[in-house]
Amino acid sequence: MTKPDDPHDVNTTGRPLPSLTDGLTGVRPATGYKPGPEREQYTIAPDGRPPEQQPSWRRDFPIDWPQSHYVARRDFTKFLVLTSLAFTVGQYWIGVQNYFRRRRGLPETRKIATLSELPVGGTIVFRYPGPHDDCVLIRTGENTLLAYSQKCSHLACAVVPRPEKGDIHCPCHEGYFDLSTGRPLAGPPRRPLPRITLKTLGDHIYATGVEARTV
Ligand code: FES
Repeated sequence: MTKPDDPHDVNTTGRPLPSLTDGLTGVRPATGYKPGPEREQYTIAPDGRPPEQQPSWRRDFPIDWPQSHYVARRDFTKFLVLTSLAFTVGQYWIGVQNYFRRRRGLPETRKIATLSELPVGGTIVFRYPGPHDDCVLIRTGENTLLAYSQKCSHLACAVVPRPEKGDIHCPCHEGYFDLSTGRPLAGPPRRPLPRITLKTLGDHIYATGVEARTV
């Protein structure tokens, strides 16, 4: 019987056990090393030797940086696919809503702008629901959007939003409306501006209807 180098490396059968230091330094192959069941998960070691000849620490750390990055890219691709799927479902949902709106005679949902083209404090003029219905979209905060008909409720002059002053001004007869509600503040107008209801989907801003108000 072969005498073990280390008296502690002896089990009850009397046969020598692999040294506990085998494979730990990466210098000597681990005597009892057996690759795990998922060998396809192992990357090629830097020294190019097969898994059977690799130190045992590679059992615990079998994935090198390149393969680790590959997994991250796969997750990122999964994220892109799910995002695209959600966007497609959203578009179909808008289409179905428009179908029923048309049947009910309500204005259809329509894309009017994107968040990326409208900075905070910025305004965009658009037409909704008809080609001659001028409206104005105002972004008053990172997540706050307002939209009103641009026709003054007095004699239909074009109103001008002034986000920095918190109001909407009609230059024809010095009428003023509250920016956050569209209600008249001063001057001849007595009725609020019709409000355009909005919704956002990702970067896109949609007009979904007109809220005509008397007070
Ligand atoms: S038209 Fe706007 S105040 Fe008269």
